[in-house]
Amino acid sequence: MNKKKGLNFYKNLNLREEKNDEKIKFVYEEWAENYDTDNDNLLGTVSQPRCVKLVAKELKDKTAEMIDIGCGTGLVGEHLEALGFKKFDGIDISEKMLEFAKTRGYRKLQLGSLTKKLPINDNVYDVTFCVGVFTHGHVKSDRVSELIRITKRGGLICFTVNEGVFEKYGFKNTIHKYEKKKNWEVLFLGKDDYMTKKQVQGYYCLARLN
Ligand SMILES: C[S@@+](CC[C@H](N)C(=O)[O-])C[C@H]1O[C@@H](n2cnc3c(N)ncnc32)[C@H](O)[C@@H]1O
Repeated sequence: MNKKKGLNFYKNLNLREEKNDEKIKFVYEEWAENYDTDNDNLLGTVSQPRCVKLVAKELKDKTAEMIDIGCGTGLVGEHLEALGFKKFDGIDISEKMLEFAKTRGYRKLQLGSLTKKLPINDNVYDVTFCVGVFTHGHVKSDRVSELIRITKRGGLICFTVNEGVFEKYGFKNTIHKYEKKKNWEVLFLGKDDYMTKKQVQGYYCLARLN
């Protein structure tokens, strides 16, 4: 195996450092080709099917309009398609990751960064996913506001947070702040398996916008 590829390449970068979009993009452009196999074989990531299940329990309408922010190679889409959901779009910062997502049932895929204003109007989606993006060196809790902006009132937002940044990047406070201000109702918030082969857990949050 080429040591400079995939997860080995990712590990060479100190993700505890502050990153900017360009550095993160570079990491995923390099990782795209091996991302799915590394997720299965080296990381044992279980967040994608878990998030899709959480949403599917609340939502029976298979024609609901959904967006997957930081969709990567489309592992969330793969699970949505398997459950019969039909209208899901994806956005990612890496073109190469999006290339791989093309075979996974997405209606529309486009480039965009959650650290900036996304190329999406206000109150558009019934469901917004953001899986694996709130993690070391990636995106901080102030950008949860952007997920809220693009989601319809009464719609669902489902996201994960790596346990290592839940408090450090302000996610715990942000989730409770929106609950207190009655911006949303938290339907589920729990810590559970995330990368099972690395013994890393993550927080799963499902909220309904008021
Ligand atoms: C750990 S991967 C998760 C991918 C996919 N959601 C999954 O669960 O397999 C993180 C993804 O977020 C994307 N990403 C990182 N920073 C981003 C940003 N600021 N805006 C949009 N996507 C971003 C990366 O390119 C990568 O595809």
